[in-house]
Amino acid sequence: MAGSSAVAALVLIIFLSAPGASHGSAPGKKIYRETCQVCHGEKGDGQTFAANVLFPPPRDFTSPASKKELSRERMIRSVTQGRPKTAMAPWKTRLTPEEIRAVVAHIRKGFMGLEE
Ligand code: HEC
Repeated sequence: MAGSSAVAALVLIIFLSAPGASHGSAPGKKIYRETCQVCHGEKGDGQTFAANVLFPPPRDFTSPASKKELSRERMIRSVTQGRPKTAMAPWKTRLTPEEIRAVVAHIRKGFMGLEE
C-alpha cells in the first residue's frame, strides 16, 4: 500500500468530485456524474482510476451479486452513513435525503436494470 500518497490521492479525488448545485431535470444522474462516478465509474462497474488506490475497490453494481445483495434500503443507508472500513464516505452532510434517494434510483435503474 502506498500509504500517505494513496490517502492524498483520495482526498484530492473526493475534493475534485465535491458536488456543486445539483438540480436539473434528472437530479440523480447529475449527482452521480458529479459526485460518485469518479469512484464508481461511468457504467457503475467500478472500472475507474480511483479504484486503483482503493481497498476494497468500489464494487460492480451491474453484477448479479450486487443486484441480489443491494436492496434499495441498504443502498440509501450506505450512501447516507457511509461504509465502515471503506472509502465510501457518509454523504448526509452534503446531500439531502431526496438527493440520496434520487442518486440511488439512478444507480438501480441505470446500472442494475431494476425498476427502482
Ligand atoms: C472515494 C470513492 C467513492 C466515492 C466518491 C463514492 N463511493 Fe460509493 N463506494 C466506494 C467504495 C470503496 C465502496 C465499498 C465497496 C463497495 O461496496 O462498492 C462503496 C460502496 C458504495 C455502495 C454499496 C454499499 C453497500 O451497501 O454495500 C453504494 C450504493 C455506493 N457506494 C454509492 C455511492 C454513491 C451514490 C456515491 C455518490 C453520492 C458514492 N458511492 C461515492 C467508493 C466511493
